Amino acid sequence: MTIAAIDRLSQHVGQIVTIQGWVYHLRSSGKVRFVVVRDGTGLVQGVMVKGGLPEEDFQQFDRLTQESSLRLTGRVKAEPRAPGGYELEVTALAPLQIAQDYPIAPKEHGVAFLLDQRHLWLRSPRQQAILRIRDEVCRAIRDFFHQQGFVLVDTPILTPTACEGTTNLFETDYLDRGKAYLSQSGQLYLEAAAMALGRVYCFGPTFRAEKSKTRRHLMEFWMAEAEAAFYTLDDVMNLAEALVRSVISRVLAARRRDLQTLERDPAALEAAMGPFPRLTYAEALERLRGQGKELAWGEDFGGDEETILSRMFDRPLLVHRYPRQCKAFYMEADPENPELALCVDLLAPEGYGEIVGGSQRLASLETLLTRLQEHHLPQAPLEWYLDLRRYGSVPHGGFGLGLERLVAWLCGLHHVREAIPFPRLIDRLYP
Ligand code: 4AD
Ligand code: MG
Repeated sequence: MTIAAIDRLSQHVGQIVTIQGWVYHLRSSGKVRFVVVRDGTGLVQGVMVKGGLPEEDFQQFDRLTQESSLRLTGRVKAEPRAPGGYELEVTALAPLQIAQDYPIAPKEHGVAFLLDQRHLWLRSPRQQAILRIRDEVCRAIRDFFHQQGFVLVDTPILTPTACEGTTNLFETDYLDRGKAYLSQSGQLYLEAAAMALGRVYCFGPTFRAEKSKTRRHLMEFWMAEAEAAFYTLDDVMNLAEALVRSVISRVLAARRRDLQTLERDPAALEAAMGPFPRLTYAEALERLRGQGKELAWGEDFGGDEETILSRMFDRPLLVHRYPRQCKAFYMEADPENPELALCVDLLAPEGYGEIVGGSQRLASLETLLTRLQEHHLPQAPLEWYLDLRRYGSVPHGGFGLGLERLVAWLCGLHHVREAIPFPRLIDRLYP
């Protein structure tokens, strides 16, 4: 018995192979029975005619239900009209399990229902396409960093302190050592690793107890973070732009079919291949005023502002030099205007908003000590971080890229919850 994957059927034309999978669709027409099977790699239609297979096997067709598991054996035939281009002339049918009434029908279901059924919803063509694109994006990110000479350094998930403010920390008991917090960012540890290895990155789950219910926020998301010694803000911006562009080109090259399944127009991504426009915070503020959105200088952009800004261009936009007062403690001040931070947000177009946040980091011990006080952060658990400024401090910087936000934009999803296999949302921890 030759087991074949549906996406490899082209290598088996004329041969008898066995497909292992699940029933996607059933249909009868006169004496002919059709079963469309999916196996995770694609769909193929099996055609059964009386006499073409043992009578017991032919009878089994009537027991089949949607999502029943089975082995289907038959001769592979090229069939240009079939989805995938091949068909199976069935010679044997062996059900493995007859599925109960499947809860997800082709009709429209509400999102709450589908999220409750997430473990089954993943089987739908649309969700498979998203997961394949996510996989491609992850590999493209890793390949990019390796090509650029960055070393993977895994940062801890259990941490003694906050990195991105204390309002959305997930707390847990660390045996008799007191509290630990789930990592909001690997950045501080990456800074240490960058002083050892020069260029480093991490890519892993990140946790934020986000009390906001928006289409951009998850409680648990994946972040790819880069950090490099001797990098200035310009280097950070260039690297972030190059990374995003290389991911887009990879998805366009390798996942056209999935984009098509999602009805995502590749032209929107092709447009994003040109150089990304760059605006300062002040220029962005002006643009927002031009659109009737009044914001006081010093306020951070919220979802609304990002939506407006990211609709102004057909490609990602870099906004740099935000006021220091609305940004994290670890950012270097702009020597030209110390009220500003040497930081950047990369906004995806079409209203998607921020997908990358980065900055040049504070290099001076004295200034860092002052900042910790200003932000009411304890010094003792960050002594190790201060050491990086005591022993050969250098200019350095990096960024964090939110995987689900990037995938949501690439796929044209309304909400980040579909961009991760099992989303953790403010009101959802099941399945
Ligand atoms: O802008 P953020 O908070 O930056 C940092 O954490 C830095 N320490 C990263 C660094 O410089 N190494 O987060 C970075 C990105 C955001 O741009 C966004 O894409 C994503 O992480 N992100 C979220 N994605 C989904 N749900 C959330 N709750 C997110 N919070 C941040
Ligand atoms: Mg940010």
